[in-house]
Amino acid sequence: MSTLPDPSDGLNRDEIRAMRRSYGEVGLAEADLASDPISQFQRWLLEAAQNPVIVEANAMVLSTVDETGPQSRTVLLKDVGSDGFSFFTNYGSQKARAIAFNPRVGLLFPWYAMERQVIVRGSALKVSTEESRQYFATRPWGSQIGAWASSQSDELESREHLQARYDEFTQKFPEGSVVPMPPHWGGYVVTPQAVEFWQGRYSRLHDRLLFTATASGWSLTRLHP
Ligand SMILES: Cc1cc2nc3c(=O)[nH]c(=O)nc-3n(C[C@H](O)[C@H](O)[C@H](O)COP(=O)(O)O)c2cc1C
Repeated sequence: MSTLPDPSDGLNRDEIRAMRRSYGEVGLAEADLASDPISQFQRWLLEAAQNPVIVEANAMVLSTVDETGPQSRTVLLKDVGSDGFSFFTNYGSQKARAIAFNPRVGLLFPWYAMERQVIVRGSALKVSTEESRQYFATRPWGSQIGAWASSQSDELESREHLQARYDEFTQKFPEGSVVPMPPHWGGYVVTPQAVEFWQGRYSRLHDRLLFTATASGWSLTRLHP
Protein backbone atom coordinates (compact mmCIF):
# COMPACT_ATOMS: atom_id res chain seq x y z
CA MET A 1 0.00 0.00 0.00
CA SER A 2 1.40 3.41 -0.88
CA THR A 3 0.59 6.63 0.93
CA LEU A 4 1.23 10.10 -0.42
CA PRO A 5 3.95 12.01 1.44
CA ASP A 6 2.84 14.83 3.74
CA PRO A 7 3.64 18.06 1.81
CA SER A 8 4.83 19.69 5.05
CA ASP A 9 7.72 17.18 5.07
CA GLY A 10 9.63 18.94 2.29
CA LEU A 11 9.87 22.03 0.13
CA ASN A 12 6.55 23.23 -1.27
CA ARG A 13 6.05 24.29 -4.88
CA ASP A 14 6.57 28.01 -4.20
CA GLU A 15 9.77 27.30 -2.31
CA ILE A 16 11.10 25.18 -5.18
CA ARG A 17 10.12 27.85 -7.73
CA ALA A 18 11.92 30.51 -5.70
CA MET A 19 15.19 28.57 -5.92
CA ARG A 20 17.37 30.44 -8.40
CA ARG A 21 20.70 32.19 -8.63
CA SER A 22 21.75 35.02 -10.85
CA TYR A 23 24.74 34.17 -12.95
CA GLY A 24 27.92 36.08 -13.44
CA GLU A 25 29.44 38.66 -15.67
CA VAL A 26 32.24 36.41 -16.87
CA GLY A 27 31.34 35.31 -20.35
CA LEU A 28 32.55 32.87 -22.94
CA ALA A 29 33.54 34.54 -26.20
CA GLU A 30 34.40 32.82 -29.46
CA ALA A 31 37.83 34.47 -29.30
CA ASP A 32 38.57 32.82 -25.94
CA LEU A 33 37.83 29.28 -27.15
CA ALA A 34 40.43 26.73 -28.16
CA SER A 35 40.22 25.70 -31.81
CA ASP A 36 38.86 22.26 -30.99
CA PRO A 37 36.46 21.03 -28.30
CA ILE A 38 38.88 18.56 -26.71
CA SER A 39 41.45 21.28 -25.99
CA GLN A 40 38.69 23.58 -24.72
CA PHE A 41 37.34 20.76 -22.54
CA GLN A 42 40.82 20.16 -21.11
CA ARG A 43 40.99 23.83 -20.08
CA TRP A 44 37.62 23.71 -18.34
CA LEU A 45 38.31 20.34 -16.70
CA LEU A 46 41.54 21.72 -15.25
CA GLU A 47 39.71 24.79 -13.92
CA ALA A 48 36.98 22.59 -12.41
CA ALA A 49 39.56 20.25 -10.86
CA GLN A 50 41.37 23.23 -9.32
CA ASN A 51 38.15 24.70 -7.94
CA PRO A 52 37.84 23.65 -4.28
CA VAL A 53 34.05 23.91 -4.38
CA ILE A 54 33.65 21.31 -7.13
CA VAL A 55 33.55 17.70 -5.98
CA GLU A 56 34.50 15.01 -8.48
CA ALA A 57 35.18 17.37 -11.40
CA ASN A 58 35.55 14.31 -13.65
CA ALA A 59 32.05 13.01 -12.84
CA MET A 60 29.78 13.06 -15.89
CA VAL A 61 26.19 12.06 -16.48
CA LEU A 62 26.01 9.39 -19.16
CA SER A 63 22.69 9.11 -20.98
CA THR A 64 21.77 6.13 -23.09
CA VAL A 65 18.67 5.01 -24.92
CA ASP A 66 17.30 1.50 -25.17
CA GLU A 67 14.02 0.02 -26.38
CA THR A 68 12.27 1.29 -23.21
CA GLY A 69 13.53 4.89 -23.48
CA PRO A 70 16.34 7.06 -22.09
CA GLN A 71 18.29 6.51 -18.89
CA SER A 72 21.01 8.58 -17.19
CA ARG A 73 23.60 7.81 -14.54
CA THR A 74 26.92 9.22 -13.33
CA VAL A 75 30.26 7.72 -14.34
CA LEU A 76 33.81 9.00 -13.93
CA LEU A 77 35.80 10.30 -16.86
CA LYS A 78 39.11 8.42 -16.89
CA ASP A 79 40.73 9.75 -20.04
CA VAL A 80 40.16 12.43 -22.65
CA GLY A 81 42.07 12.95 -25.86
CA SER A 82 41.75 12.98 -29.61
CA ASP A 83 39.83 9.64 -29.47
CA GLY A 84 37.23 11.11 -27.14
CA PHE A 85 36.00 10.67 -23.57
CA SER A 86 36.64 7.37 -21.74
CA PHE A 87 35.01 5.68 -18.76
CA PHE A 88 35.07 2.19 -17.25
CA THR A 89 32.24 -0.03 -16.17
CA ASN A 90 30.73 -3.50 -16.17
CA TYR A 91 30.07 -4.84 -19.69
CA GLY A 92 27.00 -6.71 -18.39
CA SER A 93 25.43 -3.59 -16.85
CA GLN A 94 22.26 -1.84 -17.93
CA LYS A 95 24.27 0.96 -19.58
CA ALA A 96 26.33 -1.61 -21.53
CA ARG A 97 23.14 -3.29 -22.74
CA ALA A 98 21.79 0.10 -23.81
CA ILE A 99 25.03 0.97 -25.66
CA ALA A 100 24.82 -2.37 -27.50
CA PHE A 101 21.26 -1.42 -28.51
CA ASN A 102 22.23 2.12 -29.53
CA PRO A 103 25.83 3.36 -29.29
CA ARG A 104 24.78 7.00 -29.51
CA VAL A 105 25.09 8.52 -26.03
CA GLY A 106 25.11 11.84 -24.21
CA LEU A 107 27.61 13.03 -21.63
CA LEU A 108 27.03 15.98 -19.32
CA PHE A 109 29.52 17.59 -16.98
CA PRO A 110 27.52 19.58 -14.38
CA TRP A 111 29.90 22.15 -12.93
CA TYR A 112 27.12 24.22 -11.32
CA ALA A 113 29.42 25.97 -8.82
CA MET A 114 31.22 27.50 -11.82
CA GLU A 115 27.98 28.22 -13.68
CA ARG A 116 29.16 25.87 -16.38
CA GLN A 117 28.10 22.71 -18.12
CA VAL A 118 29.56 20.78 -21.02
CA ILE A 119 27.29 18.56 -23.10
CA VAL A 120 28.73 15.94 -25.43
CA ARG A 121 26.85 13.89 -28.02
CA GLY A 122 28.71 11.01 -29.55
CA SER A 123 29.13 7.31 -30.16
CA ALA A 124 30.43 4.85 -27.59
CA LEU A 125 32.82 2.05 -28.50
CA LYS A 126 34.59 -0.47 -26.26
CA VAL A 127 38.26 0.34 -25.68
CA SER A 128 40.82 -2.41 -26.24
CA THR A 129 41.14 -5.15 -23.60
CA GLU A 130 44.74 -4.09 -23.15
CA GLU A 131 43.74 -0.51 -22.33
CA SER A 132 41.12 -1.75 -19.87
CA ARG A 133 43.67 -4.08 -18.26
CA GLN A 134 46.16 -1.26 -17.88
CA TYR A 135 43.64 0.92 -16.09
CA PHE A 136 42.22 -1.96 -14.00
CA ALA A 137 45.72 -2.66 -12.67
CA THR A 138 45.93 0.90 -11.27
CA ARG A 139 42.68 0.63 -9.29
CA PRO A 140 42.74 0.11 -5.52
CA TRP A 141 42.57 -3.55 -4.48
CA GLY A 142 39.13 -3.12 -2.88
CA SER A 143 37.72 -1.71 -6.12
CA GLN A 144 39.26 -4.58 -8.08
CA ILE A 145 37.59 -7.09 -5.77
CA GLY A 146 34.35 -5.13 -6.00
CA ALA A 147 34.43 -5.46 -9.79
CA TRP A 148 34.56 -9.25 -9.40
CA ALA A 149 31.85 -9.32 -6.73
CA SER A 150 29.29 -7.12 -8.48
CA SER A 151 27.04 -8.30 -11.27
CA GLN A 152 26.23 -4.65 -11.89
CA SER A 153 22.58 -3.74 -12.53
CA ASP A 154 21.29 -7.30 -11.89
CA GLU A 155 18.82 -7.82 -9.06
CA LEU A 156 20.58 -8.49 -5.76
CA GLU A 157 18.77 -10.62 -3.19
CA SER A 158 20.41 -8.95 -0.17
CA ARG A 159 23.34 -6.85 0.99
CA GLU A 160 24.64 -9.97 2.78
CA HIS A 161 24.80 -11.83 -0.52
CA LEU A 162 27.00 -9.10 -2.02
CA GLN A 163 29.24 -9.10 1.06
CA ALA A 164 29.57 -12.89 0.82
CA ARG A 165 30.65 -12.60 -2.81
CA TYR A 166 33.14 -9.89 -1.89
CA ASP A 167 34.56 -12.08 0.89
CA GLU A 168 34.80 -15.01 -1.52
CA PHE A 169 36.90 -12.96 -3.98
CA THR A 170 39.11 -11.53 -1.23
CA GLN A 171 40.08 -15.14 -0.48
CA LYS A 172 40.64 -15.94 -4.12
CA PHE A 173 42.72 -12.78 -4.71
CA PRO A 174 44.20 -11.79 -1.31
CA GLU A 175 45.39 -8.25 -0.73
CA GLY A 176 48.84 -7.80 -2.24
CA SER A 177 48.27 -10.34 -5.01
CA VAL A 178 47.74 -9.36 -8.64
CA VAL A 179 44.00 -9.25 -9.26
CA PRO A 180 43.19 -10.13 -12.89
CA MET A 181 40.62 -8.00 -14.70
CA PRO A 182 37.20 -9.68 -14.73
CA PRO A 183 36.08 -10.64 -18.24
CA HIS A 184 32.90 -8.62 -17.74
CA TRP A 185 34.73 -5.35 -17.04
CA GLY A 186 36.23 -2.67 -19.29
CA GLY A 187 36.05 0.76 -20.80
CA TYR A 188 34.25 2.72 -23.46
CA VAL A 189 35.41 5.72 -25.41
CA VAL A 190 32.84 8.22 -26.59
CA THR A 191 33.84 9.84 -29.88
CA PRO A 192 32.24 13.28 -29.89
CA GLN A 193 30.05 14.48 -32.75
CA ALA A 194 29.01 17.67 -30.94
CA VAL A 195 30.27 19.42 -27.82
CA GLU A 196 28.52 22.40 -26.23
CA PHE A 197 30.15 24.73 -23.72
CA TRP A 198 27.61 26.56 -21.55
CA GLN A 199 28.47 29.50 -19.36
CA GLY A 200 25.75 31.07 -17.18
CA ARG A 201 25.24 34.84 -17.64
CA TYR A 202 23.09 37.63 -16.20
CA SER A 203 19.35 37.73 -16.96
CA ARG A 204 19.52 34.20 -18.35
CA LEU A 205 21.46 35.49 -21.38
CA HIS A 206 23.81 32.55 -21.14
CA ASP A 207 26.64 31.83 -23.56
CA ARG A 208 26.29 28.57 -25.51
CA LEU A 209 29.03 27.70 -27.96
CA LEU A 210 28.62 24.50 -29.92
CA PHE A 211 31.33 22.61 -31.78
CA THR A 212 29.99 20.22 -34.43
CA ALA A 213 32.13 17.67 -36.26
CA THR A 214 32.21 18.14 -40.03
CA ALA A 215 34.13 16.37 -42.79
CA SER A 216 36.75 19.14 -42.71
CA GLY A 217 37.06 19.63 -38.96
CA TRP A 218 35.03 21.38 -36.26
CA SER A 219 32.47 24.07 -36.98
CA LEU A 220 31.50 26.53 -34.26
CA THR A 221 28.06 28.04 -33.73
CA ARG A 222 26.50 30.16 -31.01
CA LEU A 223 23.06 29.12 -29.75
CA HIS A 224 20.26 31.14 -28.22
CA PRO A 225 20.28 30.55 -24.46
C1 LIG B 1 30.06 10.11 -8.51
C2 LIG B 1 29.72 8.78 -9.12
C3 LIG B 1 30.65 8.14 -9.92
C4 LIG B 1 30.37 6.92 -10.51
N1 LIG B 1 31.30 6.36 -11.35
C5 LIG B 1 31.00 5.20 -11.99
C6 LIG B 1 31.91 4.67 -12.97
O1 LIG B 1 32.96 5.25 -13.29
N2 LIG B 1 31.57 3.49 -13.55
C7 LIG B 1 30.41 2.83 -13.25
O2 LIG B 1 30.17 1.77 -13.82
N3 LIG B 1 29.52 3.33 -12.36
C8 LIG B 1 29.78 4.50 -11.72
N4 LIG B 1 28.90 5.03 -10.82
C9 LIG B 1 27.63 4.30 -10.57
C10 LIG B 1 26.65 4.57 -11.72
O3 LIG B 1 26.07 5.86 -11.57
C11 LIG B 1 25.54 3.52 -11.81
O4 LIG B 1 24.86 3.39 -10.59
C12 LIG B 1 26.08 2.14 -12.22
O5 LIG B 1 27.10 2.24 -13.19
C13 LIG B 1 24.98 1.27 -12.77
O6 LIG B 1 24.39 1.92 -13.88
P1 LIG B 1 23.48 1.14 -14.94
O7 LIG B 1 22.60 0.19 -14.15
O8 LIG B 1 22.70 2.21 -15.63
O9 LIG B 1 24.40 0.42 -15.86
C14 LIG B 1 29.14 6.28 -10.25
C15 LIG B 1 28.19 6.93 -9.45
C16 LIG B 1 28.47 8.17 -8.92
C17 LIG B 1 27.42 8.86 -8.08
